[in-house]
Order: sequence, then C-alpha cells, then structure tokens
Amino acid sequence: MDLQITKETESSDTKDSTYDREAEIKEFDESKSGVKGLVDSGVKKVPRMFHCGERLSVAGVENSASDSRLSVPIIDLRGPQKETVTAIQSACREWGFFQVINHGIPASVLDEMIDGIRRFHEQDTDVRKQFYGRDTTKKVMYYSNTSLYRDKFANWRDTVGFSMAPDIPKAEELPAVCRNILLEYSKRIKALGSTTFELLSEALGLNQTYLKELGCSKGIFIQGHYYPACPEPELTLGTTKHTDACFLTILLQDQLGGLQVLHENQWLNVPPVHGALIINVGDFLQLITNDCFVSVYHRVLSNHRGPRVSIASFFSNWQEWDQVEGKSKTYGPIKELLSRENPPVYKETTIKDLMAHHFAKGLDGNSTLQHFRL
Ligand code: OGA
Ligand code: NI
Repeated sequence: MDLQITKETESSDTKDSTYDREAEIKEFDESKSGVKGLVDSGVKKVPRMFHCGERLSVAGVENSASDSRLSVPIIDLRGPQKETVTAIQSACREWGFFQVINHGIPASVLDEMIDGIRRFHEQDTDVRKQFYGRDTTKKVMYYSNTSLYRDKFANWRDTVGFSMAPDIPKAEELPAVCRNILLEYSKRIKALGSTTFELLSEALGLNQTYLKELGCSKGIFIQGHYYPACPEPELTLGTTKHTDACFLTILLQDQLGGLQVLHENQWLNVPPVHGALIINVGDFLQLITNDCFVSVYHRVLSNHRGPRVSIASFFSNWQEWDQVEGKSKTYGPIKELLSRENPPVYKETTIKDLMAHHFAKGLDGNSTLQHFRL
C-alpha cells in the first residue's frame, strides 16, 4: 500500500508511521460481520479507522419539540388538502425535512419493520455474512459503510440494502428473518411515496402527476441501518454529515434519537415521534426545482445506548443509474418553474453522472450538487 497517500489523508492527530489504516479497513471489511461483529468481539474502545478527528459533543442540541421555530415541522396528512400542500411547500423550502403523521401506515407495520431489520443484524453471524458485499446489481446487500475505502473515517453503523422497485425481488432472494415485513413495508412505502410526490408536485404549482411522470418515484432502494451501542460516542459518528443522492427519502427511526439536521448553521435533533415518518428532499429534487426545495445536511450521532435501528427508503429513477450511454434521460431545472427572475442554476445531467460524482466523492461532507451548478 502507499503510505504516502495514507499519511496525507490522515488528520493531524492520527499521523503515525506505524499505523496502517488500509490494513485495518481491509481486516474489518473481510470480517464480513460489520460494526456489530466488533461489538460482539468485545471491543471497549472505538478502533482508529472510525475516529472522526474531532471531539463531538453528544450531549445533544438544546432544542425541544415544543419550540416549533426550532424543530422540523410535523405535518398531518389527514388534514385539509390545501393546508397540507402549503405546509409541505414551506417545509421543503425552509427545512428540506418534515415528519408526517396520519400517513396511513399502521404503527404496527412500522414497529415490525424496525424489529425485522434488527433481527437481520442480530441473526447468526454466519447467515448474515452470506449477504455481505457491495455489488450494486444484487437485490440484497449487507455491508458496513458504503464508501469504506474512500472516506476519511468510517461510521459506527452497518446496513442491509434492498432494491424494492420497480421490480420486487423474488421472495426467496430476501433474508428469511425479515422477508414478510419487508414486502409489506415496501408496498406501503411505495404508496406513501406516490401520495407524497403528488403533494410535492402541487406544492410546486405543477400538475399532480408531474413528478411521477418524470420518473422520480419509479425506483425504491431501502436501507436498514443498525447503529450498535458505541463505547466512545464522542470519537465517531453514526453517519457523517451528508445529503441524500436521490429525489426523496422516507425515513423511519426507532425511539432512541440521534438524527440531526443542519438548520441555519445549527445541528438540531429530529426527535423520534412514535408512528411518524420523516421525509426529506434529496439532491435531485433540489436540482430539478432549481433550489426552490432544499436538500439539507444531516447526520447521526453515535450513542452509548443502542442498538439504534432506522430504515431509509430512497426514491429515484434508479433504472437510469446503469442506463447505456446515449439512452440516458437527462434531468435539469423544470422548465415550468423557470422565468427571467428565476433562470436555471443547474446544468442538465443524467442520474448516472450524479451518482458517479456522489460515489467518487464519498462521504466527504461536501455537496454533490456543487459540481453541477452553472
Ligand atoms: C441515510 C440517513 C439517517 C438515519 O440513510 O441517508 O440519513 O437516521 N439516515 O439513519
Ligand atoms: Ni441521509
């Protein structure tokens, strides 16, 4: 390995010629048992590859759900349609995040989905290992850290990913421990995604089916995250600061908390609300709305308490990701939203280019969109 490169990418407090970061990462990845495997082996300290290079304050940000100016809006989807559309419009402009209640998915389905993902990560290591890998053509992928080899530091979390739309995997391709609930949950999330894209289209002053026709809700990739209890949460993050590379994300979190959004330069907690779902604007929606809706930074703190389980459903025209050259659909600011006062700020681009840039960059804390600005 090239020590020179390793040294340059290390933060100053970890410079040490005897430290072989690449070897540490390789050993971890080859264990195929994730952070959960480390915790099971009894580690009492966070290994160096996870150190984020700063001391985090994990006591939490002083904001309470009762101060509505300082917390992500909660929107009742059963309220009057007009009010809902207005609330979604301001949430997407000002926050890029909101929580929904009365969304039609029973709390029992949400709770069972959280349990199902927990069961996957807590099943026999040898069974779990069989799914380990990063081959994105697979319908099921289990891994720890998407861009493990590229990121400056690894996150204290493991993930199992499922490609659930447009094609549903065959039942036997799905892990037995969470198969039934995954099929049920994804069917429900697909329906909620459709409703949400209709509301978003209206919030933009467009025809109700506009975003659907653009293909924004065609594909769904579901990630079931598992954040084991962390012995030294001030040294590492559950998830590094990032924005989502998709049109929209619907997130289900358990009751432990830890998710934060960057709002007006402050990290604010997104407090768990039982039975609610969190919805956030992704980079591609910011691009096609010409910055009208914002894709904002968020992160997850690690915690002495755990495990924390969350499930992110990413909506995008995923089929375009491996589209052959020349056949790709291009996305740019929606013509109907543009005017002399609101000229396009992004170039037309393909999902393939957006994803390539997103992955080449890794979780470096910078925006994917910057690269596509005019
Ligand atoms: C993500 C994400 C937050 C969470 O998967 O992109 O931001 O709470 N997850 O796990
Ligand atoms: Ni995210």
